[in-house]
Amino acid sequence: MDIIMLHPSHIPHVQTCNITNLPENYFAKYYLYHALTWPQLSYVAIDLSKPPRSKNDPPKIVGYVLAKMEEEPVDGIPHGHITSLSVMRTHRRLGLAEKLMRQSQKAMVETFGAKYVSLHVRVSNKAALRLYKDTLQFEVEKVESKYYADGEDAFSMKQDLNFIWEQVKLDDESLRKDEKTKTEGDGTADHDEGDPVGDEGQEDNKKKKEVMRKVKIGRALGVSDLVEKVETPKAAS
Ligand SMILES: CC(C)(COP(=O)(O)OP(=O)(O)OC[C@H]1O[C@@H](n2cnc3c(N)ncnc32)[C@H](O)[C@@H]1OP(=O)(O)O)[C@@H](O)C(=O)NCCC(=O)NCCS
Repeated sequence: MDIIMLHPSHIPHVQTCNITNLPENYFAKYYLYHALTWPQLSYVAIDLSKPPRSKNDPPKIVGYVLAKMEEEPVDGIPHGHITSLSVMRTHRRLGLAEKLMRQSQKAMVETFGAKYVSLHVRVSNKAALRLYKDTLQFEVEKVESKYYADGEDAFSMKQDLNFIWEQVKLDDESLRKDEKTKTEGDGTADHDEGDPVGDEGQEDNKKKKEVMRKVKIGRALGVSDLVEKVETPKAAS
């Protein structure tokens, strides 16, 4: 099983997965909007056990998470939102949903500086509630009455992403320590004169690039005017 970022070519297969598993469905352009605007936040799970017979065979997508950053957060706090999540019946209870969610949450923090992530879930959806509450530690914020098109209520849930911020900080610190140990290890670092040259210079540049891996990028502006934000008024999961 492999988990990779959602690519536009996956969209028809993700749509099949979505239609098979959930009553909340979306036009292809809504998936595309997610994939182009926040490419780091949506992932697919691919079953690699049956390799494609030809180059043209589509990958076997058995699960996905479709996620975004809230574009106009009412509380003014940058946060992510899970638009949809599902895993094919044949591939459930293998930890795929958990992995898809964790991957997306990490990217929300690292790439977009999200402070928390929100989602909606049907009050009757026991499996998803177990996943969100017990495995991922989401909390119920409120009940939204008749949120879904068929009149069912939704739990509006939220998870603080501070723990990922802490993890990212720790990773960065240990990376910096490693770099320091490497450069000072032989005690010659202080005696080096002038800029590094040749292969040594390239090696140095590589190290700098690794240390500078955390970047914040802005949202792609202007795209939102081209697509419908919500295809059906109450379609979000
Ligand atoms: C909810 C759903 C996405 C879970 O996918 P999954 O890949 O099977 O979930 P995971 O294997 O990652 O499960 C992680 C944990 O969630 C909980 N969980 C998942 N499915 C469960 C079930 N049917 N009953 C009880 N708990 C369940 C368990 O605590 C599980 O850990 P465990 O297997 O160690 O006990 C999947 O059942 C699904 O696609 N359902 C239909 C679509 C849907 O409801 N999507 C959510 C919309 S909000």
